[in-house]
Amino acid sequence: MLQIGDEVVYFSVVFLLVVLVTRSATWATLLTAFLYVFMVMFRFPPVPADRAARVLRPRALFSGGGVPVVAHRGGSHDAPENTLAAIREASRNGATGVELDLSFTADGVPVLMHDETVDRTTNGSGPISKLQFVQLRRLNAAAHHRMKDRFNVEKVPTLQEAVEECIRHQLTIFFDVKGQPDMAVSVLHNMFKKFPVLYNSSVVSSFEPKVIYKMRQTDPHVITALTHRPWRLSRFGDGTPRSLSTWSQLWTGVLDVLLDWAHHRVLWKLCGISAILVQKDFISRDYVQYWAERGVEVVGWTVNTAVEKEYYQNLLKISYMTDSLLEDCDPHY
Ligand SMILES: *[C@@H]1O[C@H](CO)[C@@H](O)[C@H](O)[C@H]1NC(C)=O
Ligand SMILES: *[C@@H]1O[C@H](CO)[C@@H](O)[C@H](O)[C@H]1NC(C)=O
Repeated sequence: MLQIGDEVVYFSVVFLLVVLVTRSATWATLLTAFLYVFMVMFRFPPVPADRAARVLRPRALFSGGGVPVVAHRGGSHDAPENTLAAIREASRNGATGVELDLSFTADGVPVLMHDETVDRTTNGSGPISKLQFVQLRRLNAAAHHRMKDRFNVEKVPTLQEAVEECIRHQLTIFFDVKGQPDMAVSVLHNMFKKFPVLYNSSVVSSFEPKVIYKMRQTDPHVITALTHRPWRLSRFGDGTPRSLSTWSQLWTGVLDVLLDWAHHRVLWKLCGISAILVQKDFISRDYVQYWAERGVEVVGWTVNTAVEKEYYQNLLKISYMTDSLLEDCDPHY
């Protein structure tokens, strides 16, 4: 969707600001023109809306009801997170998709892992970036799960094993990329080439605009999403400040405002995203409307109570990520 109105406003603001600062209409015109050309030349158009809709709204199109429900980390409450068992469990419990975290071992094997260390989820310890794949494979990814007796032993899956399991169960995949943009993008690109059905059934998402920009640069056919939580730099997910010093709190707060502005005004267009994954507390009907006007779907995370799910299903009518398909559980930020 073309946002002529938006663009006129933004470029006028830029023009006026530059006029005020430089007191030169020539400079203001040149700079504004430069910015405009930059945006036009370096942005990636989004994938066609009908293909994005097939991926982001599978249920609406195929079974006529309900919003899509995505199992966060494969559904970390119902099964050990980021494992093949979680993928199977999510499918059995009626999820339309899963969100999975991409990580790499010391020898560069792409695997599923959320944290930087293996301590929380497995019986091993230390950073995953220091473990060889064979070492990681010996660990039990169900070791600390609340239902470890039921799941007994689960391996940390490779990315490809997870992709194959999802394709088998016809689940939409949200690949969450945290770091290592170059490696992640190249690995994902190869995965799309190997399993072309992923173009019709997956989304690459990240908090890092750089990852998304690179992904679209490498393969413009991939459907992408930016992940966003306002105040992410200055505050933890539960709202408590990250830093003890007033100055750094203030500074990260300023960066947060800029980042929020950039996500809503510039980055989405530059990257050509099809969806934005937003922390649930910041989503309202107006917010969903804002993005709908720009052809972007909002997905809420992490929606973990029956009351909230009902709100998404019946009022917002948008897709959400949850840790459990079965019962209420504590939030994850
Ligand atoms: C972790 O659990 C697995 C499976 O029970 C076991 O084979 C392995 O030796 C354990 N590793 C450590 C470091 O405890
Ligand atoms: C993706 O979906 C479109 C439309 O349904 C179809 O024509 C195309 O063959 C599909 N591609 C793959 C790789 O499944």
